[in-house]
Amino acid sequence: MANAMLLPVLISFLVLPFSALALTQDFCVADLSCSDTPAGYPCKTGVGAGDFYYHGLAAAGNTSNLIKAAVTPAFVGQFPGVNGLGISAARLDIAVGGVVPLHTHPAASELLFVTEGTILAGFISSSSNTVYTKTLYKGDIMVFPQGLLHYQYNGGGSAAVALVAFSGPNPGLQITDYALFANNLPSAVVEKVTFLDDAQVKKLKSVLGGSG
Ligand SMILES: *[C@@H]1O[C@H](CO)[C@@H](O)[C@H](O)[C@H]1NC(C)=O
Repeated sequence: MANAMLLPVLISFLVLPFSALALTQDFCVADLSCSDTPAGYPCKTGVGAGDFYYHGLAAAGNTSNLIKAAVTPAFVGQFPGVNGLGISAARLDIAVGGVVPLHTHPAASELLFVTEGTILAGFISSSSNTVYTKTLYKGDIMVFPQGLLHYQYNGGGSAAVALVAFSGPNPGLQITDYALFANNLPSAVVEKVTFLDDAQVKKLKSVLGGSG
């Protein structure tokens, strides 16, 4: 008797965490006034067509910066309509000589589609540190598996543009150089964990804004 009564309760608890993925609702536009959770944002009420539309990738990103490149995200934070759908996008602009330095997206695989110019791209496997590189021309796509270190740089004489698709609404972006040299991790520790010498570490910290 008690067991029979518990069963529906148990089932609802089992199903609850997967509700965003199950076909119990068509969509769950993010309520950005709440906090993100491992299951995504809570759903907002009063959804309209504008929630499934984003114009923010139409304009080129500003590449007047250290890396001469700009990643313009259409992640859930900018484009709440992707919440719960397992997808998002970004626009990548790389000026001549520009680079997106070695980085990872902890929470998504990436599909890069070159729409202008030439991009040299590569990723490094975690199991054997094998490098997979390719020169990409207009119309080419390349896939970068989730969590793996990868890079892109402009390999041509004109600006390069790519549309990037991600297999998650909030892929994350961690650039290795910034993780090592743009914070207050003491230089002595950085030298220890990278095998770089003091002069090189101090130089990179000063270029990237790190301290210590
Ligand atoms: C691009 O960024 C640079 C450096 O921050 C700034 O000086 C410049 O005004 C920006 N250009 C545009 C078009 O926003």
